[in-house]
Amino acid sequence: MSNLRSFIINRIGWDLYLKPFMYKKLPSGLGWPATMGSLCALLFILQALTGMFLAMYYVPSPDLAYESINYIMNEVSMGRILRGIHHWGGGAMVVLVFIHMMHGFFAGTFKAPRELTWVAGVVLTVVSANIPKDIPVIGDFTTRLMLGGDRVSGLTLTRFFSMHMLLLPGLMLGFIGFHIYLVRIHGVADPLASDAVGKKHVKPFPQHIYRFYPEHLFKSTMASVIVLGVIFLLAIYGQIPFEGKAGTLDPDYLPRPEWYYMWLFQILTFFPGSVEVIGSLVIPIGGVAILFGMPWLSQSKWRGVADRPIATAMGALCLIGIIYLTLMGFGGARSYGRIIPVPDRSLNASELKGLQLFVELDCAYCHNINGRGGRIIGPDLANVVVRDRSQAWLIKFIKDPQAESRWTTMPKYNLDEESLKALADFVLALDFKEHRMKIISRTDVKAGNTK
Ligand code: HEC
Repeated sequence: MSNLRSFIINRIGWDLYLKPFMYKKLPSGLGWPATMGSLCALLFILQALTGMFLAMYYVPSPDLAYESINYIMNEVSMGRILRGIHHWGGGAMVVLVFIHMMHGFFAGTFKAPRELTWVAGVVLTVVSANIPKDIPVIGDFTTRLMLGGDRVSGLTLTRFFSMHMLLLPGLMLGFIGFHIYLVRIHGVADPLASDAVGKKHVKPFPQHIYRFYPEHLFKSTMASVIVLGVIFLLAIYGQIPFEGKAGTLDPDYLPRPEWYYMWLFQILTFFPGSVEVIGSLVIPIGGVAILFGMPWLSQSKWRGVADRPIATAMGALCLIGIIYLTLMGFGGARSYGRIIPVPDRSLNASELKGLQLFVELDCAYCHNINGRGGRIIGPDLANVVVRDRSQAWLIKFIKDPQAESRWTTMPKYNLDEESLKALADFVLALDFKEHRMKIISRTDVKAGNTK
């Protein structure tokens, strides 16, 4: 028995590597925030495992993707729960990675010698938030890059799928390894040392011994149980919000961002029309650049919140802004598109079809009509007629907005010629100088009740 024990101990390098790792002394002031990093790693593993099983059933082809998700949900045993864990686990990962990064920001742990640890962490935040797919404009760019065009084909979906399950996780794995390696060499930043080089300037209580095992591992395990518990409960009892056929990249998908980008999308409402590029490009890229540059932008040698009033105030302002914009985005998203202002006259067949499409394609997600009914990411559609747009111009614009306005977030609507003409006719009918405004409801339009 003791032979077997010493065999294993020698072969796995217990004394040399694992034991010092297990019993390593950590700064005695480490608290719950220090468990965030391992939680993020745990969720990455959870995503990898559930993703592996889902990949056995998911078929990345336009005809079968939707069916295969249905099959996973209804036929595969535990399939619904598996997909639930992957879905909620993904959301939880974004939240925890964000909290982990925010903690680093406020605690100033990015300062020397941990600059590269921070940079690798920012890369991980960007990649885990799945930016190549979802960010307006940038996402659209990478989408187009990967598609080599705009048409959704079988190839597209296969490429997205391999991006999602091979390239991105592979990239993340590399950066996670690098990040953790750096944490190992430079150690965890000591919360009680308030300057960057680790000189203690406060010593509020006598140091007690705090090791990885058992003290820190206990805290991490507790935190993991809570997070995993919440994810499992959501997977069992929660409803995955209906995604339409978005997962299949159906060209008719509704233009909704992931919930964690809602705030970014909401920023667009402040920069309508020709200054849209500020919201869609300048702010996101600028924000990420500032995050990357933090170790070099922040000149003070102090680490603590109280010693860095400017960085702390700016960080807090951004955080409050993000939360506020997220709430605003959801508040607004709930009520848009219920009513549609139309001219008070009978519409011809093409205009009626356009109205129908306006509702089905959810144009109100970004457009108001005469100040009502929609959100204000795009221009008010009642102004189109004032601008003297021609039917031909509108058809071309709706089919491919980026050809006209390179940075716009408006999606391409690759519809048949008749539908495009109908949308153009409907937009041109919104002439409230000529006719009085009449309000009709979305339900009426859906029921074909537009008299
Ligand atoms: C994701 C948001 C979004 C959605 C959804 C959207 N649009 Fe737009 N749309 C915009 C933005 C932003 C612009 C401004 C583009 C610019 O000028 O740079 C715009 C511009 C337009 C214009 C040009 C207005 C003008 O005179 O310059 C028309 C017409 C238009 N949209 C129609 C539609 C229709 C019809 C739909 C639904 C099929 C739709 N949009 C869906 C964001 C959106």
